Amino acid sequence: MSNSNISPFVKWAGGKRQLLPQIKARMPKEYNNYYEPFVGGGAVLFELRPENALINDINKALMNTYRQICSNPEAFLKEISRLDSQMSEDGKTYYYSKREHFNDKLMKAEYDIELAALFVFINKHCFNGLYRVNVKGLFNVPYNNSRSSSVDDNMIMEISKYLKTVKIADGDFETACLDAAKGDFVFLDSPYAPLNPTSFESYTKEGFDIESHRRLAGLYDELTSRGCYCMLTNHNTELINELYGSKGYQIDVVSVKRLINSDASNRVGEEVIIRNYE
Ligand SMILES: C[S@@+](CC[C@H](N)C(=O)[O-])C[C@H]1O[C@@H](n2cnc3c(N)ncnc32)[C@H](O)[C@@H]1O
Repeated sequence: MSNSNISPFVKWAGGKRQLLPQIKARMPKEYNNYYEPFVGGGAVLFELRPENALINDINKALMNTYRQICSNPEAFLKEISRLDSQMSEDGKTYYYSKREHFNDKLMKAEYDIELAALFVFINKHCFNGLYRVNVKGLFNVPYNNSRSSSVDDNMIMEISKYLKTVKIADGDFETACLDAAKGDFVFLDSPYAPLNPTSFESYTKEGFDIESHRRLAGLYDELTSRGCYCMLTNHNTELINELYGSKGYQIDVVSVKRLINSDASNRVGEEVIIRNYE
């Protein structure tokens, strides 16, 4: 594979770009397979480009985009350049018509190349790159007034080359880790535990509630007993300390700037990186 850098093809809430140096400094020295069950935009995956990786996210439209870029990058680029070039002076009307078309395809579960291109187009032209759906599962983020092009073609070709070596799944995090075994590395970046009751925490219509955080802590213990190397990131909250604090795991607190947050007073915060190895 070529050595050129690759980076996420979408902007994603909770993206781990900012934490990359701290994450890289804490990787196990060696490991077998790589598992990333909450891959989102893939900031960590694309930085590490591990061999023998399995990536997963419950967002089926997102994982369809990974699959389409993997298997047919030329058709994906053609489709997205059609969307970009048809964006008229009135970007707003165009964006909303494409958002409606995207939602229509989502409802019909049409996971194809057109949906993948719409997914990236909408991500690049929606407010803050948020992926947010309403109770019916429809994407509802407004236009961000930008008319820039949606992708870098060379980057998409590089990403495609890399993804050909990766297994791509789109289910629940527990299922994604079923085969993780001794010596494998599992990087777990779930939706954040809430900082306060109003904070943004629902990425899909299923959301990720306190019970999901407990289930994830159970999986962390289970993977530890299998002999996997685990690294988990989250906010430094009471819940997270309650779930991981008394089990002998290494918990490092790191400071971060919060980019996707409507409350300016909450823009600097603490996150934790939890490991079950030295
Ligand atoms: C904090 S984001 C991951 C961000 C990612 N590390 C990045 O750099 O972009 C959490 C992800 O978990 C996904 N998710 C939510 N519930 C899930 C579940 N039950 N199983 C798997 N993925 C889930 C969301 O769709 C979201 O993409």
